[in-house]
Order: sequence, then structure tokens, then C-alpha cells
Amino acid sequence: MNKNKTNVLLGITGGVAAYKILELLRLLVKKGFKVKVVLTKAALNFVTPFSFLSLGAEEVFTDLDQFSVKDGSSIHLSLSRWAHVILVAPATADIIAKIANGISDNLLLTTILASKNPVLIAPSMNENMYLNPITQSNLEKLKILGFKIIEPEEGYLADLQQGKGRLKDVEDLFEDIMYFLYDKPLLNKKVLVTAGATREFIDPVRFITNASSGKMGIALAKVAKRLGANVTLIFGEVSERIPEVDRSIHVTTTEEMKNRVIENLKEADILLMVAAPADYKPTTYIDKKLPKLDKYDLKLEKTDDILKEASKYKENKLFLGFALQTEDLIENAKNKLLEKNLDFIVANTPSNIGADTGKITLISKALDMFEFEGTKEEIAHFIFSKII
Ligand SMILES: Cc1cc2nc3c(=O)[nH]c(=O)nc-3n(C[C@H](O)[C@H](O)[C@H](O)COP(=O)(O)O)c2cc1C
Repeated sequence: MNKNKTNVLLGITGGVAAYKILELLRLLVKKGFKVKVVLTKAALNFVTPFSFLSLGAEEVFTDLDQFSVKDGSSIHLSLSRWAHVILVAPATADIIAKIANGISDNLLLTTILASKNPVLIAPSMNENMYLNPITQSNLEKLKILGFKIIEPEEGYLADLQQGKGRLKDVEDLFEDIMYFLYDKPLLNKKVLVTAGATREFIDPVRFITNASSGKMGIALAKVAKRLGANVTLIFGEVSERIPEVDRSIHVTTTEEMKNRVIENLKEADILLMVAAPADYKPTTYIDKKLPKLDKYDLKLEKTDDILKEASKYKENKLFLGFALQTEDLIENAKNKLLEKNLDFIVANTPSNIGADTGKITLISKALDMFEFEGTKEEIAHFIFSKII
């Protein structure tokens, strides 16, 4: 299930957050998308066409190109046909007002007016400008007209004042674009994903855990979102930022993870149990920090088996688990698949832990096996292509 659309047009207007779009361009190019850029006259005060060209944009246009012809058409018409999706970011109050009123006196505006494909608008400005009823009513109008508005965040703005109006993080903007480039085989499906490691505390500062980074679970959550699912992510300790999903729930212990999984399972169609819950916990918790002794005998007991508990509520839900072993990987994974009544299991080795790439074997209930190697995001796409 690869991306079926690849052409992204970035429209950059005269806001201070324009520099962030250089990073977004890098990300898009790195992931194999074709990117063209249109800068307004005001945007040229903040960033240069050359910066975008140096970072891999196929072409960069300004208003100086507006009255020229490309491939037998005016630039705005050829660009509007080429772009599978247009993102205007940062979108100034000015461009928002102009789009909302059909004004088309520059290259970006004419391209947007001529486009039949999704146009995403990411406002970014001073809080008073953003909350001004004129801007708000223009945004309302654009929403009604079918534009996708990417709400700005609260945070430090250009003048170092706190407020609403900050452009969202580049990784989130990237996912907003992705949503419009993939088919939606998971539409109306609820996917529950667990990720990361849990912690079992010995005393207030010491705990038992494992090396899971949460990267695989997070990749699966992101990709499920791209493919149209409603996603709940239950995560323990992770080394990656949590993406925007429909619900994200942080947990600490294995018991907490089990409880949140069971609570959210009733609603779910698919459970992807990717987390690495700590398998053992201390039999007693000491509520004061232990002094440094020469020797300390730690007694452990097994934690709850989340999949075993979840299987009581399986019904016709699809369950996928992960198995990580240092020896007899496939044999052990097959045993776990049958023992835990899973529909699929992903066998992987410790070299995948914390890495951005990995090698996996996906095993179905009928014991069909599929091997795949790639980035965790590619692995996530591969897994969905096989299980849907
Ligand atoms: C230093 C500076 C920073 C600005 N930052 C923003 C901004 O973040 N958001 C915004 O809506 N306008 C901002 N403006 C105002 C726009 O640049 C101005 O409205 C311009 O006409 C927008 O043109 P455009 O929409 O064609 O790019 C800023 C202006 C200056 C001088």
C-alpha cells in the first residue's frame, strides 16, 4: 500500500514562521515526495527561493513567473494540475482573507483558485491577528468551502509573547499532508496501538524496564491515521515524539497499560500490541529511596499478561502481536501466535530495538510468512497491506 500520489505544492506567505517550511521540504524530499514551491512577494523578505532549491525543491516560483507559460499552459494552471495537494504555510491573515474572497492577484492565489485538489491552510500570526473576528470569519468561510484548516498552536510567538498563533510542528504538518496522499482502506475502523516500555518501580527513583523505544508502535499509529483509521495510542516510555492521533494515553506500569487497553478495546476493530511491557515487577514496593547497600536481594513476580486478558474480549476483532527473541525466533513467534489467539504476529530481533530501520517476519494465523526490511514507517505500511 504505497503512496499513490506524490506531488506536493508548498505555498509560502509573508509570515515569520516561513523558515520552518525549509525543514518540512527536507522531510518531504527525504521521504520521496516531489515538491514545488510558490513564494509570495512578502515571503521573499523571510526566505529565499535558493534555500528551497538547495534543499531539493523541483522548482520554485515567485510572482515574477506569473505571466509566463509552462508546458503550454500558464504557470498557475499547470501548477494547479500538477499538485495532488497544496499546503499554504505559514498562511498570513492577508492570504486567508484573499482566498476567502476569491481575490487572485498573485501566483499563489490564482493557483489555489484553479485547483480541484485538497488545499490545506496553516494560519500563523500574532494572537490578536488570529483571534480578530475578521480572520476568524474568513477561516470559518474557508472551512465551509472545504479547505482544511490546520489550527495553530499555543506557544511562544515571534515577539516572544505566549499566545495562540504558532505554526504546528513540521512533523505534524507532514502528517497532515500525508493524509491527503494515501487511499483510505481503514476508514471507519478503530485501531488501538500500544507502544514503548512500561516501568515497574522498586522504590521512588528506581525501576525495572526494557530497551523498547516505541518507534515501531508510533510508526503503526501514524500510518493507521494516514490510511483513514480512528487511532488510539496507549504508550509507556518512548524516545520519539507522540504524533497527533485521535486519543493518546500515557501509562507507566504494565497493570496500567492492561487496564487502559481493556477499557479501549470494546470500541476497537484492530488491536496492535506493539508495546514491550515489563514482564516482571518487584514483589514489594519500598516507598523510601533504598540506601546504597553492598547487596540487595530483589524479589520479582510476573506482571499481568495483557494479550491474555485482552483475548477474553476478542470477538471478531483483529489482533496482532510482536515477538522478540534472541533464539529460535520463528518457532517462538509461532507458539505465541497460537497461544495468545492472535491473527498475526511480527517476529523481530533485538537489533530492531531503538533503530529507525528493521527486518521483520510477519506470520499469519494460517502460518503464511512474509519477510520485509525497511524503515519502521515502511514496515508499518507493509504490515497494513498484509492484514487489511
Ligand atoms: C516582520 C514581520 C513579520 C510578519 N509576520 C506575520 C505573520 O507571522 N503572520 C501574518 O499573518 N502576517 C505577518 N506579517 C504581515 C504580512 O507580511 C503582510 O500582511 C503581507 O502583506 C502578507 O503578504 P502575503 O500574504 O502576500 O504573503 C508580518 C510582517 C512583518 C513586517
